[in-house]
Amino acid sequence: MTQFFLDGQAFDSLEDESVLDSLIKAGHKLNFSCKKGVCKTCLVQHVGGQLPVGAQRGLDQALKEQGYVCSCLCKPTDGLKFKSVMTQDLFISASLLSKKYLSESVVEVTLNLSKPINGRAGQYVNLRRFDGLTRSYSLAPGSHGRQAVVHVRRKYNGQFSDWLFHRAGNGEQLLLQGPLGAAYYQQGYSADTLVIVACGTGLGAAYYIAQEAIELGHQGDIFLYYGTNDIAELYQHSQLMQASLRHRQLHYLACITKTSQGNLPGKVVVADPFDEAAKNHQFDRQHRVVLCGEPSFVNASRKAAFLNGVPIDRVHAIAFEYKDLRARERA
Ligand code: FES
Repeated sequence: MTQFFLDGQAFDSLEDESVLDSLIKAGHKLNFSCKKGVCKTCLVQHVGGQLPVGAQRGLDQALKEQGYVCSCLCKPTDGLKFKSVMTQDLFISASLLSKKYLSESVVEVTLNLSKPINGRAGQYVNLRRFDGLTRSYSLAPGSHGRQAVVHVRRKYNGQFSDWLFHRAGNGEQLLLQGPLGAAYYQQGYSADTLVIVACGTGLGAAYYIAQEAIELGHQGDIFLYYGTNDIAELYQHSQLMQASLRHRQLHYLACITKTSQGNLPGKVVVADPFDEAAKNHQFDRQHRVVLCGEPSFVNASRKAAFLNGVPIDRVHAIAFEYKDLRARERA
């Protein structure tokens, strides 16, 4: 049995139990969602004792330096001391500047931030509304300084997405945490063949990564495969076609899974996006694969990439968590 402290209160932890699990077991109310070190909603701040190796895995340098720890990953050592994180420590205020409908189910939301963030293509932010409901969204093109842009797909029964899509108006006040995530484009990738495969609103992150790579002088080819169910859900198609005409290194192809579409426009095929990418590339160490979209798609594609010969350190996953990130009441 190990004992650790949160805000001066002692908690017992069994062997192999994380700080988060011990807190939940004791009935403590704490935000969490993924329990995998991804969403960063379960952070606590280290204030004393010896941190175990790996306790800050996945956090960026700024969060590490401030002593933040993902409580879901940290297996406590005896006498470890933490303090709770206040909303204002991690979130900044954001007001809804504009909405632009990109398709029947996707809206682009632009937020005006109370202070600039240094977001990179491939990173994401957590958005929290007035009642604490929080969701993660990847940054999309147009994000810079005091402006954050995200693509939101209206989901069936999606409390947050439906509210953003239909009801949230200009001036709506939110809180923003981030940018988060380390799967962003790096200068060392410059000579690689980038194969970016996206589904759903993962296109926002995918397009942003392609755009940033070009701006940073990427030398290799960039292939962007975008998968969606049908033509009606295809968005930013003409912008990507135009971008591929402007930049000869950018190759874009949309993949739809439903076949009853009549005539397909240019650059659209009926195929699974990853299968199409695997068909068109002999993957080797020159390739770097970036996967953007919902966890089920990203996880399946990551496995397929590995089985198709892409070294696992050259596969970058940008997945979204759609779970309710509010503090959960425990029995
Ligand atoms: S990072 Fe800990 S619950 Fe998501």
